[in-house]
Amino acid sequence: MLPSHLNGHSALGRRRPRLSAAAGESPAAAGVEAAAPLEEHDRIYFQAYSHLGIHETMIKDRVRTDAYHAAIMRHQKFIEGKVVLDVGCGTGILSVFCARAGAKRVYAVEACEIVVQAREIVKANNLTDQIVVIHGRVEDVDLEEKVDVIISEWMGYMLLYESMLPSVLFARDKWLKPGGLILPSHATLFMAPVTNRERYEDSVDFWRDVYGINMSALVPLAKKFTSEEPSIETIGGENVISWPSVCARYSSSASIAIILQLRNSNLSLQNTKFHQ
Ligand SMILES: C[S@@+](CC[C@H](N)C(=O)[O-])C[C@H]1O[C@@H](n2cnc3c(N)ncnc32)[C@H](O)[C@@H]1O
Repeated sequence: MLPSHLNGHSALGRRRPRLSAAAGESPAAAGVEAAAPLEEHDRIYFQAYSHLGIHETMIKDRVRTDAYHAAIMRHQKFIEGKVVLDVGCGTGILSVFCARAGAKRVYAVEACEIVVQAREIVKANNLTDQIVVIHGRVEDVDLEEKVDVIISEWMGYMLLYESMLPSVLFARDKWLKPGGLILPSHATLFMAPVTNRERYEDSVDFWRDVYGINMSALVPLAKKFTSEEPSIETIGGENVISWPSVCARYSSSASIAIILQLRNSNLSLQNTKFHQ
């Protein structure tokens, strides 16, 4: 579960972290056949995705869903008549988009219980000839053939927070034909400093006077807590105090190690306007 302070700031706060798959571990390095066993935090993670609410939030996110639809249509020529693997199909929405774009077959793989409804959705849309829904982790399932295209919505907060990318890379190394297409194929993570006076006052200054009691002794702890823990919030543009800098890039043709190298890179922040 997300710590409670990560919940409730926005509906998107419902995306769950899964920390089992170490973000730096390339499946190629780990050996394609050697999938990590399902652990308790995986079970909690997949259980979270069994709730309808998270799928509703994702699908209603038009920027996200339209972007996937547009990408599929842009690559229609590559998808038509081809075999697609949808890693973590959820309700099956991306599989349906691919089938409608003319895919010969779509393997829709999903580890959580929403797969039951995904199967019904495929049936209700008369796509059972094209879409094969498979319940299981992509690391554990067996497909009848290699695929031409892998599609997946794996991006969590801070791009990697959900730790799903290693599963996609595992699927790539095991199931994608040479020269195959991955959607999305690239991702860039930007970082920018922000200020949020209201939030600071609420979390830090709050301790200066609590019911008339001076509790300032807690201010250093509160400062540590607010700066150490990630927080998912919607803030206004006026709170962004510098231009964003690229801090990580992902390319589907490279190992994830590329992203982690950038951890040590220096961010140069331009035109930073600090509040007095
Ligand atoms: C962000 S959701 C995307 C759902 C759907 N593709 C969509 O776009 O609405 C990610 C989904 O991937 C599933 N998932 C994550 N890791 C997986 C894995 N290793 N094998 C199979 N499914 C996985 C989760 O259970 C979840 O339903």
